[in-house]
Amino acid sequence: MIPNPLRDPRDRRLPRVPEPCALVVFGITGDLARKKLLPAVYDLANRGLLPTNFALLGLARRDWGDTDFAELARDAARKAARTPWREEVWERLAGSVRFVQGSFDDDNAFDHLADTLGELEGSHGIGGNAAFYLSIPPAMFPVVLKQMQRTGMAESTPGRWRRVVVEKPFGTDLASSRELNALVDSVFTAEDVFRIDHYLGKETVQNLMALRFANTLFEPVWNGHHVDSVQITMAEDVGIGGRAGFYEETGAARDVLQNHLLQLLALTAMEEPVEFSAEEIRTEKLKVLRAVSIPDDLRTFAVRGQYEQGWLAGQRARGYRQEEGVAADSTTETFAAVRLGVETRRWAGVPFYLRTGKRLPRRVTEIALMFKRAPHLPFADTDTQELGNNQLVVRVQPDEGVTLKFGSKVPGSVMEVRDVSMDFLYGEQFTETSPEAYERLLLDVLLGDATLFPRNAEVEASWAVIDPLEEFWAGTTPHPYRAGEWGPRAADDMLAAEGRRWRRP
Ligand code: BG6
Repeated sequence: MIPNPLRDPRDRRLPRVPEPCALVVFGITGDLARKKLLPAVYDLANRGLLPTNFALLGLARRDWGDTDFAELARDAARKAARTPWREEVWERLAGSVRFVQGSFDDDNAFDHLADTLGELEGSHGIGGNAAFYLSIPPAMFPVVLKQMQRTGMAESTPGRWRRVVVEKPFGTDLASSRELNALVDSVFTAEDVFRIDHYLGKETVQNLMALRFANTLFEPVWNGHHVDSVQITMAEDVGIGGRAGFYEETGAARDVLQNHLLQLLALTAMEEPVEFSAEEIRTEKLKVLRAVSIPDDLRTFAVRGQYEQGWLAGQRARGYRQEEGVAADSTTETFAAVRLGVETRRWAGVPFYLRTGKRLPRRVTEIALMFKRAPHLPFADTDTQELGNNQLVVRVQPDEGVTLKFGSKVPGSVMEVRDVSMDFLYGEQFTETSPEAYERLLLDVLLGDATLFPRNAEVEASWAVIDPLEEFWAGTTPHPYRAGEWGPRAADDMLAAEGRRWRRP
């Protein structure tokens, strides 16, 4: 075993290491595999969290051998790994990298893949266990799944597990996601299906549960008696990069509102689970998603936008319609904002404002609880002009942490009250850096821990929220906003209609 300098000797917890197994990645030459999955495999190996008997397999059309794939994986890992590079760790991993050549509709390729898994059982002692990662366009799912069924690769048997990892988007609406779920469930048993929403792998998102359920301070005020409204923002400064083909078909609401933002809403609004287990947490999230209400007046409370040419960080940024591969008259949204409700005793009457967009001024994801104003202020009006709502802000990224905003007296001879902040920053309190979301989630797949993976009922409940919005937006043109601005005016008007304003993160 290679000594692990990344492990803190004071850490008494036993590291959770999966049983011997193989990870099979479909779509190894894609963006996700190169930028996230392969580096995550290396990081896990580097932290000593992969079993000694482990194999990494890739299947692609290229005319490659094992060493070509190993080289691609090495390059990807070197470029994007989170942990320091250690050649000896890579060398060890490289010895168990296999490549299978062929296309997804090629029976021979899948027979070969099944044989290779069989051989690895003998040569690398992987015990017949394998996780299949579908990092491929959803249109390819049926053919790949059917191949796995045909070759018997998808079957878990006593003492041998087979799991599948499905990347979002899980369909494009409720009907198609049902179809997809039915298809996946016809090939794999429900507990062997892992639907990835990488936001759930983020340390700060998991901290939301620690914050709420490990403390006594916050839960008593975490409800509609004290909270005026909740704002969930996922802002990105980047545009669509080289993903025009995907994005034109998808748009902001299907790309991230349906999954990342609704999952954040579910974790914010859910009741305390009976225990910290996959079953109980997923049950509580599902209850929230089923309780989400959509406003009647969608004209005011569901806004979508599209960025036009503008300036970002001193650089000119072109408009969405000028991006390569985007139609000159595209009506795909790059910004979406909506006011939702959660019809439960805890949250009835509290608006949840969700917004996301590309080419906004900065990259920031946060959940902000905006508390009610004090019912009475025993000060002169002029003394509290600078006093806003108390706020509790969970900063998902960057500057991971939590901020509490409240009023405080300004030093001096008069009684002036102004907002101040109290900050908890991960980077200051902890010496270790957080694992990447994919690192955590990949490890959980190999361990068979489904806590951080949405169940299909959650996915379907989320589409039930998005479908009416998409229907309302169909055939309309999104509101324009300039790159580098916080979305279209209509998004500000949406909050102004109820006497509120977006936070400027
Ligand atoms: C993905 C979306 O799920 O999340 C992308 O498809 C988006 O459009 C990305 O850019 C953002 O992820 P992160 O972890 O950088 O916030």
